[in-house]
Amino acid sequence: MASLTIRKLDEAIKAELRLRAARHGRSVEDEVRVILRQAAEGPAAPAPSSHPTPAAHRSRPTSTTTNSVTLIIGGGIAAYKALDLIRRLKERHMDVRCVLTRAAQQFVTPLAASALSHERCYTDLFDAGSEFDAGHIRLARDCDLIVVAPATADLMAKTAQGHADDLASAILLATNKPILLAPAMNPLMWNNPATRRNVAQLIRDGIVTIGPNAGEMAEAGEAGVGRMAEPTEIAIAAERILRPPQAQPLAGQRVLITAGPTHEPIDPVRYIANRSSGKQGFAIAAAAQAAGADVTLVSGPVDLDDPVGVNVKHVESAREMLAQVEAALPTDIAIFAAAVADWRVASEGTQKLKKTGAGIPPLQLTENPDILATISKLRDNRPPLVIGFAAETEHLIDNAKAKFARKGCDWIVANDVSPATGVMGGDRNTVHLLTREADGTVNVESWPVMTKDEVATTLIERIASHVKDTST
Ligand SMILES: Cc1cc2nc3c(=O)[nH]c(=O)nc-3n(C[C@H](O)[C@H](O)[C@H](O)COP(=O)(O)O)c2cc1C
Repeated sequence: MASLTIRKLDEAIKAELRLRAARHGRSVEDEVRVILRQAAEGPAAPAPSSHPTPAAHRSRPTSTTTNSVTLIIGGGIAAYKALDLIRRLKERHMDVRCVLTRAAQQFVTPLAASALSHERCYTDLFDAGSEFDAGHIRLARDCDLIVVAPATADLMAKTAQGHADDLASAILLATNKPILLAPAMNPLMWNNPATRRNVAQLIRDGIVTIGPNAGEMAEAGEAGVGRMAEPTEIAIAAERILRPPQAQPLAGQRVLITAGPTHEPIDPVRYIANRSSGKQGFAIAAAAQAAGADVTLVSGPVDLDDPVGVNVKHVESAREMLAQVEAALPTDIAIFAAAVADWRVASEGTQKLKKTGAGIPPLQLTENPDILATISKLRDNRPPLVIGFAAETEHLIDNAKAKFARKGCDWIVANDVSPATGVMGGDRNTVHLLTREADGTVNVESWPVMTKDEVATTLIERIASHVKDTST
């Protein structure tokens, strides 16, 4: 990937960039990143005039705002976990620039940190390549947050005393950004009066700490308080500092979501599946959880981490999915985003089907339970708001309208999953929301191309305003 040197741009452009950056409260580098990202994403597809554009599209959801983090990795055993932390920060829309202390490089390499952060990694205060314009000051200030993980006893002592004799300590002294420390050390080091004094001083100075946790140490047979907080915990703490919790419009609401494909067994080793990745359903679960809902996610087989704070039930087949859905009722809202197989093999082989000379065995199919229709038509326990997904490869709106009429749900989210769209397995989605007017006519809103996270946030915002309207 090519890099861009802002210093080499025309003076007039630089002046314009500085003004824009100041107006938006961003660093010049971040301003350039925003401009490039917007240019790459292109203009949002205009919504057909008969379909109103949701208000949420005019301003991008805050949960997808990109922040930038300078991650200082100290020289402790837990440095290897800092590599995972880079991932956890990036998946929360944070750009990460890494600084490794000299000791940290004994545990992890700058190359690994660069490869994971997709950015150059910094190690040296006296680096001619980055210090020609006081690079340590840029690393200290051209970010929204500094995270130190692992924060060693030594680095905390230096920070508490205001030392600046290497890149990490100089950045920590020169910054005007919030600092989050994740200490990690042997329990005796942590409990040493000197460390206690230093930590108390750092907290008085306004620095935020997370952990350490109790547990086993790397040293054989030792346990106690000193383990670095887990990468996900640190990333959540970073997110809380950068994006303080918003109002939680779905607090107190129970939300049930299905996601992913189902696997329908043919015999003990073979199954019928589809290409659903589960990304859209998982994004909706995370967005509902962030909006304060109590979320149960019933997922088919996917290659995704469980969203933090969500109660996840893993299933394989449509029948198992229905059983878990029914077990999760009653809920206030149910969103069926899973790509449930319509059919399964009528009589599943108890042993692996063998090639015999008798020709190809016929696969007799039988219909799977229709989860969306079953729940939509419940007499008791029907969630007050049932939302289905319609994945179509042709005649999208017509087919979605027909499904809407058949299933008895309240809203349908229709999306085109033909291979050319790259929706199945991809990160973007183009959806149409079908709702019913009071007189029974179907209203279709066509949303512009968005990331699956943005679709999720926008859908949850719509649900929140529906809940508010119907409860007043
Ligand atoms: C194998 C090994 C493991 C270490 N683990 C830790 C640790 O977990 N926490 C810590 O504070 N120091 C640990 N140290 C000591 C630090 O590496 C040492 O204090 C170093 O000066 C820290 O430098 P830094 O703070 O600039 O990264 C360890 C040292 C060694 C040799």
